[in-house]
Amino acid sequence: MKRVLTYGTFDLMHYGHIRLLKRAKELGDYLIVAVSTDEFNKLKEKKSYHNFETRKLMLEAIRYVDLVIEENDWDQKSDDIKKYYVDTFVMGDDWEGQFDNLNKYCEVVYLKRTNGISTSKIKKDLEIEFKGV
Ligand code: CTP
Repeated sequence: MKRVLTYGTFDLMHYGHIRLLKRAKELGDYLIVAVSTDEFNKLKEKKSYHNFETRKLMLEAIRYVDLVIEENDWDQKSDDIKKYYVDTFVMGDDWEGQFDNLNKYCEVVYLKRTNGISTSKIKKDLEIEFKGV
């Protein structure tokens, strides 16, 4: 059983997220997604539309996802890798090179981001589209 682990906020789920999760799952048999809690987002100065429980609920409904855990701080990754016997750590290539130090615990893979979509873009587009409606 090959176990894969990835991290993110996954707010306003979109096809860039789905494509990332599909490819992450294809790297193994069991996909674990660590989702930023609302408190951790605050620390990162990020605010999500959906709260943690909702983002978790939606991720759990995706066929590629086997387990959703909490991401509470920047430094938990090596502990998670050991705790969940992770073989492959995956991130989008917006993080290219930034987690190479985890190489000593498992394989580290960066997947290409999907062009033209992001949570920030959706928020911006909706603000423009529905201004005054
Ligand atoms: N991701 C991706 N392609 C996109 C957007 C996101 O592959 N177009 C990946 C990211 O690289 C990350 C995961 O999806 O590995 C979760 O990303 P997240 O930061 O939650 O989503 P974004 O849409 O990038 O959110 P934001 O605009 O708030 O940064």
